[in-house]
Amino acid sequence: MHISQRLKAVAQCVPQCDLIADIGTDHAYIPVYLIKKGTVKRAIGSDISKGSIEKARSNAEKFGCSDLIDLRCGNGLEIINKYDSPECIIIAGMGGMLAIEVMKKNISAVKAVKRLILQPQRDIDKVRIFLHKIGIKILYEKMIKEDKFYTIIVCEQGKDCDYTKYDYWFGKNNIEEKNPILKEYISCEMNKMNRILLSLENNEKQHIIKRKKEIEKKYKAYEEVLMWLSK
Ligand SMILES: C[S@@+](CC[C@H](N)C(=O)[O-])C[C@H]1O[C@@H](n2cnc3c(N)ncnc32)[C@H](O)[C@@H]1O
Repeated sequence: MHISQRLKAVAQCVPQCDLIADIGTDHAYIPVYLIKKGTVKRAIGSDISKGSIEKARSNAEKFGCSDLIDLRCGNGLEIINKYDSPECIIIAGMGGMLAIEVMKKNISAVKAVKRLILQPQRDIDKVRIFLHKIGIKILYEKMIKEDKFYTIIVCEQGKDCDYTKYDYWFGKNNIEEKNPILKEYISCEMNKMNRILLSLENNEKQHIIKRKKEIEKKYKAYEEVLMWLSK
């Protein structure tokens, strides 16, 4: 079956498991792909939308794994009960703040799972900070560029080492390894900031001046990181 590079990259972070839970499964491509590949034996696929669960059901049937995917309609991790013990939880394709809300709704499930895989669409820095606050360790991160840039955060239980402000912004191993995709991402963001600054050039309203200063400050910080990455 054909899945996007983003979903493939998420799936590659899943170890051999008896049971996984894919929260916000939508089309159920992740569980179907992992079962067909033999990486996982069974999966719970959940979504808050009935329409998505129908889509998931139809795909599970199409690929002959209906009996191996337990589809549940419900809010986030609330659908995981004490009799489920998924070894891996995946939350991919949601905004970072929504992913945090989902985790907050069932912290005990997050604290019981061996591996947690997150692929937040935005507010990735806030997700990293939240993970550390609840005692989850970031094992490694992956960045990919498909139609846009995506970050996958792979976590396990435990205390992490110290993070700098930049590690929270961009991911510790992305910085340490001087990830070329991170360099590209930072350049792209700097171009966006430049375009915004240009469009606000002649606007001297108080709140716009404040906004321009904030963007300039962020631009300088990004430039600093980019220079370091390029050494
Ligand atoms: C953009 S899709 C991502 C689908 C898939 N995980 C992926 O990465 O391609 C986000 C999915 O999350 C579901 N969703 C949003 N809020 C949710 C929540 N609180 N609990 C469960 N699912 C939710 C949406 O209905 C939607 O199907």
